[in-house]
Amino acid sequence: MHKLQDKVVLVTGGSSGIGLASAQLFQAQGAQLAVTGRDPQTLEQANDALGGKALVIRSDAGRLDAIDDMMAQVRARYGRLDVLFINAGVARPAPIELTSEEAFDEQMGVNLKGVFFTIQKALPLFADNGGSIIVTTSITNQLGSPNFSVYGAAKAGLRSLVKSLALELVGRGIRVNAVSPGPIATPMFDRLGLPPELAAAKKQAIADKSPSRRFGTAHEVAKAALFLACDDSSYLVGEEIVIDGGMSLL
Ligand SMILES: NC(=O)c1ccc[n+]([C@@H]2O[C@H](COP(=O)([O-])OP(=O)(O)OC[C@H]3O[C@@H](n4cnc5c(N)ncnc54)[C@H](OP(=O)(O)O)[C@@H]3O)[C@@H](O)[C@H]2O)c1
Repeated sequence: MHKLQDKVVLVTGGSSGIGLASAQLFQAQGAQLAVTGRDPQTLEQANDALGGKALVIRSDAGRLDAIDDMMAQVRARYGRLDVLFINAGVARPAPIELTSEEAFDEQMGVNLKGVFFTIQKALPLFADNGGSIIVTTSITNQLGSPNFSVYGAAKAGLRSLVKSLALELVGRGIRVNAVSPGPIATPMFDRLGLPPELAAAKKQAIADKSPSRRFGTAHEVAKAALFLACDDSSYLVGEEIVIDGGMSLL
């Protein structure tokens, strides 16, 4: 028996990296999927990677009207939701002097505000016997990370959100938990806009600093997300699983 047999699962930011690896693992475990992202080309690739069987939605995770529309599409296709993996996230690292209000608002909007309202707007889709909500945070929510102050603050807010909403929703049989990745090899690092040589040097420095001497893989995070999505974690409430090769222990 598959771990998510016939469960309806929505993965935001499911078109790339951790979200796509999770969507593929969930699908292999019997889930019926909806995935989101913004970039049409990446969404097309995700559609292919998921064998054309998933509901692929172009949606901005930071906009409330887009979240409403996303939920309407999930309802129209599947009629309900069993698992919600809120994974879409954006990082725009910069020193404080160079951080614009627009960059601040985007990171807070997608990484914190959008998560809160995605949970709020998903609730009517959860059946009476509950379900599982998983949020992707980051180890920057407990470490000081120069140039990632806004991103880290949004992810720290998420950590708090997960605990409080876990207590609000556990009575309805909905478990809320988080995965907290350390450095994971995904396209995210390449989107930071660093020149290729600097990006390679930064990646090497991060790998050298890690107790595990490497980046994690998206699949390693996906396995933790699957654990939180399915009944194997039936007594886990408001927890955050850190997947970082030991980085945050330093
Ligand atoms: N990689 C790491 O080292 C690391 C470490 C800690 C935490 N994380 C977290 O892990 C999550 C997944 O990141 P990843 O590493 O897998 O990066 P990724 O490969 O860049 O994937 C990010 C996903 O989020 C989507 N996304 C970004 N902004 C969005 C928006 N406004 N609306 C809708 N979708 C949006 C992207 O879609 P589009 O491309 O179409 O925008 C993509 O599907 C994020 O929450 C990130 O903060 C990553």
